[in-house]
Amino acid sequence: MPHPLAPQLLDASDPNALADGVWPAGTERADGALRIGGADVRDIAAQHGTPFLLVDETVARGRARRIREAFEAAFSAVDVYYAGKALLTADVARWMRAEGLRIDVCTGGELAVALRAGVEPEAIGFHGNNKSLAEIDAGVAAGIGTFVLDSPIEAERVASSAERAGRVQRVRLRISVGVHASTHEFLATSHEDQKFGVPVDEAPALVARIRELPSLELVGLHTHIGSQIFDASGFAESARRMLALHAELGASEPLAELNLGGGFGIAYTAADRPEPIERIAASLADAVRAAADELGVPVPRIAIEPGRWIVGPAGVTVYTVGTVKPVRLDAGTRAYVSVDGGMGDNPRPALYGAQYSARIASRASAAAAALTRVAGHHCESGDIVVDAEWLPEDVAPGDLLAVAATGAYCHALASNYNVTPRPPVLAVRDGAVRELVRRESIDDLLARDTGFTAGSGTAADSNGDA
Ligand SMILES: Cc1ncc(COP(=O)(O)O)c(C=O)c1O
Repeated sequence: MPHPLAPQLLDASDPNALADGVWPAGTERADGALRIGGADVRDIAAQHGTPFLLVDETVARGRARRIREAFEAAFSAVDVYYAGKALLTADVARWMRAEGLRIDVCTGGELAVALRAGVEPEAIGFHGNNKSLAEIDAGVAAGIGTFVLDSPIEAERVASSAERAGRVQRVRLRISVGVHASTHEFLATSHEDQKFGVPVDEAPALVARIRELPSLELVGLHTHIGSQIFDASGFAESARRMLALHAELGASEPLAELNLGGGFGIAYTAADRPEPIERIAASLADAVRAAADELGVPVPRIAIEPGRWIVGPAGVTVYTVGTVKPVRLDAGTRAYVSVDGGMGDNPRPALYGAQYSARIASRASAAAAALTRVAGHHCESGDIVVDAEWLPEDVAPGDLLAVAATGAYCHALASNYNVTPRPPVLAVRDGAVRELVRRESIDDLLARDTGFTAGSGTAADSNGDA
């Protein structure tokens, strides 16, 4: 008889099992405990404390290589940009370059990471719907490869920055192509009523204006229809519409490139079944070729910008269980398992209702499966890490609990809510673990509060009764 509170798709048969495609490839249990990238999570926790985000370097780099090779096999000319917003540290940027990817940034901060990591400026693309004048100047001064223009105002701003610098800046124009991606609404970026890009019918006038500006060189159009997309037909439909616009706007002056964005979905739970990326690349290439033939234009150089697909499945967050509390509801009992992190290190469940998978990482258990909800330590009832999971019913304080597929948009979106220091980002390779980003300390956080750093104030002073 199914548990009335458990989602049908969750498999209760073995609460120790590591579902294929959800955990970093090669993750196994040895002596009951999880080994990721050849390292025992108990040793990592003993050395670094919890929580921590562990990124398997071999998996992240392997996936970067695999998606590049899949698209190179499907298209004759392609550039793969790694979407840095998913997870950007100096070493992650270097791994991506070493695997032949370019880097996509969307703020001055991400630009600074890429440049200081040694990424060649011409390999950087700069996105964003509201780049500041300082960010634009920084990108122009560095000599970055392309800006993705998001509005008429931005075209003028980039043109004037390039003119002042005496450069001709290569640009793409982001189009809101009107394809509704089948994903959570907040992640879908090509609805008409949204902030990104320029609608198809406004593109011709803006392209004409960009072409009048001598300090800009328009190399192509860009779109991104959303994230965590499984249905390849959304990508194909967007590619067809973009190609039609590409052909129309390239009739007078050819456009060399077409950027189709990122958004390729990954498995967060065993219920998610993404198609192999090779099949998605091939079906996208079929759609592009068929549209190009029909329109009588050559297939342009294609660019894509995956983030999540590359680093998401390479990351695991490890927490320590603090309290376990059965909560009895009319429909049944659910155990709330609370850990030493939560929405501060992974806000995606609270933001998007994202689902995750969890396992006890420090041991295997022979106990029966119990329906659990993994909660964080923050002062917010929506602070949920894993909404529903079958864990061994003997899950207990002190157990290490691992949450899979946290490589993308967790560290990147982390906050200091409740004055909580952010966890470190660790990398593992061939059993060796090193810090990519160190753990934040409470002193790091207090250092920004001038009430401490100015040095003079006391509680009595501020009460006015000294
Ligand atoms: C313009 C653009 N490109 C690429 C991406 C990367 O998406 P994903 O990490 O889902 O591949 C995003 C994500 O928001 C985006 O906005």
